[in-house]
Amino acid sequence: MAESVWIGTSWKMTKTLGEAREYARVLARMPVPPGVQPFLMPPHTALVAVRDALPHRSPVLLGAQNAHWAPEGAFTGEISMRMVADAGASLVEIGHSERRRLFAETDETVSRKVRAALDAGLTPLVCVGEPAAVRAAGAPEGFVADQVAAALSRVAGDEVGRVVVAYEPVWAIGEAGRPAEPEEVAPVVERIRRVASRTAGGRSLRAVLYGGSVDTGNALGLLAGTAADGLFVGRAAWTPAGLGALLEVGGTHASALRAGSAGGHGPSGSSGP
Ligand code: PGA
Repeated sequence: MAESVWIGTSWKMTKTLGEAREYARVLARMPVPPGVQPFLMPPHTALVAVRDALPHRSPVLLGAQNAHWAPEGAFTGEISMRMVADAGASLVEIGHSERRRLFAETDETVSRKVRAALDAGLTPLVCVGEPAAVRAAGAPEGFVADQVAAALSRVAGDEVGRVVVAYEPVWAIGEAGRPAEPEEVAPVVERIRRVASRTAGGRSLRAVLYGGSVDTGNALGLLAGTAADGLFVGRAAWTPAGLGALLEVGGTHASALRAGSAGGHGPSGSSGP
């Protein structure tokens, strides 16, 4: 069972330092509902500023949106896992579909980055998801299963519990995206758990999230109607009020899980192979 309902956002390529500090200042004053694990992925330039603007004991996990697999060296323009950890990140996003599509990331580079993240003591948050054509052909689970297996190919069985996977169908992300329906998400989330468990001798991922056009209108349905452990949000959480509203939804789901009234779904992480 995942320890809590994960709700977080990547700011992608938005926000100056001033904007980042202001967001973090508001977030710092926001109550986090019981059972919710908030996380925030600013651009690299704002990591330190956001870390410093949040209270020392803030429950918000900070993450980087990308980092290189090499520990250091002649990789102009890149930043290492060690460097993002040093800047305050405890998570690192790996293999977002925008990076796969626009910056030539492959299953091979994703797996190298997952390895490097674990070696640096970071939690890799690996994004997987099928393009529209694969969904239209009717078998997204196999495509996503291959991405997960590749991402975990350099991970030992007893390390799988340190990895978070976000299922983000490519067709669901961004301005042109259509949010997935819970019925479309649920079987893929189950398959992700099974693949990970199989490669890890029955052990579970730390969490499996859903992302792609999440907003306050569809968030509860996506949590309650699938076995996802949380939501990875873009645009709808780019204001602190937006993130706050989604934290509330996460809190509602967490309390339903505690009350045992979530229809048998919710954080489980315990499905067998
Ligand atoms: P979106 O982004 O919520 O703006 O669609 C999601 C993502 O890319 O993770």
